[in-house]
Amino acid sequence: MTTQQPVALVTGASSGIGKEVAVRLVEAGFQVVGTSRDASALTAREGLTFVDLDVSSDASVTAAVEHVLGGFGRLDVLVNNAGIGSAGAAEELSVAQDRKVIDVNVIGVIRMMNAVLPHMRAQGRGRIVNISSVAGLVPQPHMAVYVASKHALEGYSESVDHEVREYGVRVVLVEPGPTSTTFDAAMVRPDVLIAAYAQQRETFAEVMADSTSKGDDPATVAKVVVAAVTDSNPRLRYPAGATARRVSALRRYVPARVFDKQIRKINRLAG
Ligand SMILES: NC(=O)c1ccc[n+]([C@@H]2O[C@H](COP(=O)([O-])OP(=O)(O)OC[C@H]3O[C@@H](n4cnc5c(N)ncnc54)[C@H](OP(=O)(O)O)[C@@H]3O)[C@@H](O)[C@H]2O)c1
Repeated sequence: MTTQQPVALVTGASSGIGKEVAVRLVEAGFQVVGTSRDASALTAREGLTFVDLDVSSDASVTAAVEHVLGGFGRLDVLVNNAGIGSAGAAEELSVAQDRKVIDVNVIGVIRMMNAVLPHMRAQGRGRIVNISSVAGLVPQPHMAVYVASKHALEGYSESVDHEVREYGVRVVLVEPGPTSTTFDAAMVRPDVLIAAYAQQRETFAEVMADSTSKGDDPATVAKVVVAAVTDSNPRLRYPAGATARRVSALRRYVPARVFDKQIRKINRLAG
């Protein structure tokens, strides 16, 4: 049986941005399936159910997408929101830790897209919204692998969008700035610290605390996601929130040398 309502799958809907996106999409008329690695801890409501999903597992991704298609007979929207951060100087993180960030933030999205694209192409329509970040546009010392993962997501999304557009499918990016969620708590952090980075680490903690305290409400980002889902003529990129809009514009218009200087000034880096 195929439901009449459009169906959206939102990864990482247990907290933060994903939780708010799921609620807003229900309000916008979607039947929403949200995901968590422990969906049993979440309560379903009218228009919103949950399914287990670990985006770092092929089998889990296949099972979650089959669950949606089996239950509703259609899948119109995928919001790839699940993600984890990293904190620490690049050489303080192990390759295993770097791999974990890439596996969730990049390969996890690729797994999800590969699982849904055959169905979206067959039905001749679909929208994939990938939650990137201002970290997909600019560097951030002490978050290098997270920044790398979001830059990768930007390039991947833009490339695939060109492949699937003629089949009625669009891939778009939402780029939030700092947002008030529990994201910091789940960051991958170094097991062993290198003394040479002690001063930078202190500054980074201050810079992060300052930007987090001024962070946008997840609802601000969720509204932009709903726009990215429902726009009849979507843009490729949707900066979400005032900081993201400013950073996105600065990145495009400020000369590289000036931009470089500004990054070093904000992070109080020597030289
Ligand atoms: N907060 C910010 O300042 C900010 C800024 C820019 C972009 N973003 C991006 O926004 C997205 C959401 O972040 P958030 O701030 O809302 O953080 P959050 O509250 O920590 O939410 C992260 C979500 O990802 C899910 N998740 C983590 N690992 C997963 C895995 N292996 N498989 C499936 N799901 C997994 C978590 O679900 P379970 O633990 O329940 O599985 C959780 O629901 C991320 O992609 C992040 O990079 C955040």
